[in-house]
Amino acid sequence: MIDDTDPLVLFMPSGKRGHFPVGTPILDAGRELGVYIESVCGGRGICGRCQIENQSGNFAKHGITSSQDSISPVGAKEKRYADKRELKPGRRLSCSATIQGDLVVDIPADVQVNAQVVRKADDGRHIDRNPAIHLCYVEVPEPDMHNPLGDFDRLKTELVKDWDSVDGDSSNLEDLTIDHHLLTRLQPILRKGKWKVTAAIHKDGGATRPTLIGLYPGLHNEAYGIACDIGSTTIAMHLVSLLSGATIATSGTSNPQIRFGEDLMSRVSWVMMNPDGREAMTLAVRDALNQLISQVCSEADIEADDILDMTFVGNPIMHHLFLGIDPTQLGVAPFALAISSSIQMFACELDLKVNPGARVYVLPCIAGHVGADAAAATLAEGPHRQDDLMLLVDVGTNAEIVLGNRLRTITASSPTGPAFEGAEISCGQRAAPGAIERVRIDPETLEPRIRIIGVEKWSNEEGFDEEAEKHGITGVCGSGIIEVVAEMYLTGIITHDGVIDGKMAAKSDRIIANQRTWSYVLWNGTQQLTISQTDIRAIQLAKAALYAGIRLLMDKMQIKSVDQIRFAGAFGSFIDPKYAMVIGLIPDCELDRVHAVGNAAGVGAKMALLNQDHRREIEETVQKIEKIETALEPDFQQHFVNAMALPNKVELFPKLEKQVKLPDVNTGSLGDTTESSRPKRRRRTRAN
Ligand code: FES
Repeated sequence: MIDDTDPLVLFMPSGKRGHFPVGTPILDAGRELGVYIESVCGGRGICGRCQIENQSGNFAKHGITSSQDSISPVGAKEKRYADKRELKPGRRLSCSATIQGDLVVDIPADVQVNAQVVRKADDGRHIDRNPAIHLCYVEVPEPDMHNPLGDFDRLKTELVKDWDSVDGDSSNLEDLTIDHHLLTRLQPILRKGKWKVTAAIHKDGGATRPTLIGLYPGLHNEAYGIACDIGSTTIAMHLVSLLSGATIATSGTSNPQIRFGEDLMSRVSWVMMNPDGREAMTLAVRDALNQLISQVCSEADIEADDILDMTFVGNPIMHHLFLGIDPTQLGVAPFALAISSSIQMFACELDLKVNPGARVYVLPCIAGHVGADAAAATLAEGPHRQDDLMLLVDVGTNAEIVLGNRLRTITASSPTGPAFEGAEISCGQRAAPGAIERVRIDPETLEPRIRIIGVEKWSNEEGFDEEAEKHGITGVCGSGIIEVVAEMYLTGIITHDGVIDGKMAAKSDRIIANQRTWSYVLWNGTQQLTISQTDIRAIQLAKAALYAGIRLLMDKMQIKSVDQIRFAGAFGSFIDPKYAMVIGLIPDCELDRVHAVGNAAGVGAKMALLNQDHRREIEETVQKIEKIETALEPDFQQHFVNAMALPNKVELFPKLEKQVKLPDVNTGSLGDTTESSRPKRRRRTRAN
C-alpha cells in the first residue's frame, strides 16, 4: 500500500520514482520500481555490483530535496567492502544503504569492480541494462544422509530462498532447470567452491524458463557478451561486460566469404553452382567469428569461457549463411526467408568457441531484402519511439530504407548498385588510404582541391605533396564521388540533367573531349584521374534508385518532407549531408537534422545484448513495420526518372537552398532514362 507520507525516491537516469518506508534498502526500492540494479552476491556486500550515488540538492523539477541525511550512514558491510576493494567517493552499496528521507539516486554507468582495462571507449550511448544472463552467488548446504535432495535441487532451493527473481519481474526460480552440459560438472564445482558457488542463469523474456547455464566455484563477479554485425564486406565484434555494460574490446575483420564472391548475388550463385558451397561459406564465416572471439578475449585479457551471451545481426544472406541455411531462395522472387522471426539457440550449435552454455540471440529480419542489420539499426535509432518522422538509410549496393515515427513505420530496399562503393566509376575505389574523399572546385577557375584518406591537409596546403606521396593518390572513394559530382553541378560543369557541358572547355582545360562526350580532369599526377560522362551517369542511376525508393515510402506516408535523416553504415559516416542533398540522394531536410550514425546495426546488436526488453521491442516493431516492394510499385519508375536530374526534375529543395545556391535549372534531355536503363534489382549487397 502506497503511503505518500513516506520518503519519495527518484532513480536516475530512468526517472522512475516511488514512496518507500524509512529503512527500506535502496536495492529493494529499485527492484520494486523495475529499476535494474545489478547484484551478484544477493546483498551480502561482497560483489560491489549494486553501487549507486546519492545526489544532494534541490531538484525543483521533481519536487525533491535530497541530502546526505536522506540515506543511512555507511554501514559495516560497506566499510568491509571499501577496505577490501575500492569504493569511489560518493558511491554506496544499495544493498546496504537504506532510505531515510526524500532521495535522488543515480545509477552510475561505469560500475567497474575488476581491475580490467577498458581499452575501447564506448560510443557514448547509455543503454539501460536488463540482460538475459544473471549471476547469483549462493551458499548451498552440504549433503546430508537425512536429506536425500540432490545437489542441484539443494542449490535451487537456496537460489529460490535468496533470489525470488533474477530479473526483477515475474521470473520464478522454482522453475529453474539445468543445461545438460552442466550436470556432469555440477558436483565437482560445488565441492571445489566448498558449497559456495556463483550460478549463471539465463532467462530471456516471460516465455522462457530460467536455466542454469554455468556454475563457478566461489564468487564469480564478471560475465561477458558479444554483439556482432556480420556484414558482407566486414564483420564487426564488440566484447561487452554484461554486469557493467562497458564495451571492453572491439575488433573487426574482412568477411572471408569475399573469396567466394565480391557481392552477395555472386555468393548465392556460388551456393547454387557448388554442391558444398553453402557449407564452405558457413565454415568460413564461423572460423572468422572464432578468430575474432579469440582476438577480443586476448585484448581484454579474459577467458572465452566467461562469454555467456551473444547477439548477431546481418543482412538476410549473411544471416542465412551464418546459421547454415541455404540462401538460394533469397536470390529469386519472392525472396523468401527461411525464418524472419528472432532466433534463440546455443552458441555451441553454431560451433562458436565460448562457454558451452552460452546462448545466441539473432535479431529478426524485416523482409527478404531488409535484414536483421536494418532491424538493429532501427532499434538503435528508434524512429518508432519518436513523434518526428525519421528517414533511416543504410547506403550499400542495396540500400535499406526505413521511414517512420511512433505511429507508423515502413521499409523498402532500393537497388543502388555498387557505384557508391567506387565500382562502375572509372577512377573509383573502396575507401582506403590514398583515395580522394573530399573535393572542392573553384567556381571561377574550375580548379579542384582535394583531400585524400590518410592526409589531413588539402591539396593546396603546404606539405600536402610530401604527405600524399606515402599513399599515392589512387582513386576516388564513395564520399569523394558524391562531392565531385555535386561540385561539378554547383560550378556549372554539369547541367541539371547531368551532362558535362562541353562549352566549359573554353573556360578550363580540365574539361577534355572524350570521344563524343566530355570528361573532367580531377587530378593530374602520376596517374590522371578523370570523371567521365559514364561515371556521372552511373552516379545518377544509383542516386535515382535510392531517391525513388525513399520517395515511394514518402508517398505511402503521404508526406512531402521528413524531419530527420540518419545515415547508417560505414559509407554513410563519410557522406557530407550537404553534398548528398545537392545531388538529390536524399530529400530536402534541415541540414543540421541530417546525421551519420556509424555502425547503427552494431549498436542495435549491443542494445539487444544488454537488455532483453530491447529484444521484445524490436520483435514487436518488426511485426508492425510495413514492407514495400519497390519492384511492384508502378510509381517507382516515375520517381526514378525524376530523380535522374540534379538534384531532381520536379522536387524542390527549399531548406537546402537556404544554405546553398543551386544553379539555375537548365532544361534539356535527361538522356536515356528508359526502362532499359533502370537498374536491375541487385539483392542485398550491403557495403559493410
Ligand atoms: Fe553485492 Fe550489494 S549486492 S554488494
